[in-house]
Parts: sequence; structure tokens; C-alpha cells
Amino acid sequence: MIRKFRPAADESDFVNLKANPVTGFELLGLVVAAHKRGRGLGKQLVEHVIGVAGQASFRAIETAVFADNQPMLRLVIGLGFQPVRMTAHLRADGMDVVYLRRYLDMM
Ligand SMILES: CC(C)(COP(=O)(O)OP(=O)(O)OC[C@H]1O[C@@H](n2cnc3c(N)ncnc32)[C@H](O)[C@@H]1OP(=O)(O)O)[C@@H](O)C(=O)NCCC(=O)NCCS
Repeated sequence: MIRKFRPAADESDFVNLKANPVTGFELLGLVVAAHKRGRGLGKQLVEHVIGVAGQASFRAIETAVFADNQPMLRLVIGLGFQPVRMTAHLRADGMDVVYLRRYLDMM
């Protein structure tokens, strides 16, 4: 099941999540409108996803972030995600992707 969550007030911000009993719980995408970044909205959206995963009794959340996306890496690492593996040269320009996991028993 893939779900899109948007904060009620604004159509431009969203987070996608995928909850699969076999493959696990994934945070697939997160976008905050450019003019609203840096105010804590992205953090609130990821915290929402952590709550959804915990309520659904998943043990961990995974996400994948390109290695040059410093804002997203800082955001998720600040919320307890830890790098677990990486794939080199995944993007067409050669950029690596980092996979991160956040265990939910930290809650
Ligand atoms: C990544 C993104 C969602 C962050 O959203 P945001 O609302 O600006 O983030 P927040 O204001 O909640 O910031 C939370 C933390 O993220 C980190 N962060 C956010 N923007 C940052 C930046 N420009 N540089 C460095 N760290 C940043 C900080 O650690 C910050 O915590 P702090 O303010 O206490 O230092 C936003 O930049 C975005 O939509 N980017 C384009 C889409 C994208 O790359 N999505 C991720 C794909 S995997």
C-alpha cells in the first residue's frame, strides 16, 4: 500500500509512504515547497510517518536519499535514522544513494 500524506492546509507539501507486511515500511518521498523550507515542516512530516509506522506495529522505517542531498540527510539523521547500506553510482550523473533505517523501539 502506498499512501500520500499532505498537511491539511497546503497542497504543495507531501510525504509518500509504503507499508508492506513483507518488505517493510518505507518513506518514499518528501517535498516541502521551496518558500516554506527551513521552518520545521519537513521534520513534522517525517515525525508523522514515524507515528503511522509505529501505530501499524512496524519495527523499522527505511528510506533512500541521494548522497548529495544534505538537507534530507541531516533531517532524517536528526530523527534517528542510521545509514545501513549504499548503492554506488545509482543516478545518471554517478551520484550514490544512501539507505537509512530508523528502528521504532526508539519511540
Ligand atoms: C529535504 C526537505 C524536505 C526538508 O524540508 P524542510 O521543511 O526545509 O526541513 P526542516 O525545516 O523540517 O528541517 C529539519 C532539519 O533538516 C535539516 N535541514 C533542513 N534544511 C537544510 C539545509 N538546507 N541544509 C542543511 N540541513 C537542513 C536540519 O537538520 C533541520 O534541523 P534544524 O533546523 O534543527 O537544524 C526540503 O528541503 C525539500 O523538500 N527538498 C526537496 C525535495 C527533496 O529533496 N526531498 C527528499 C527526497 S529523498
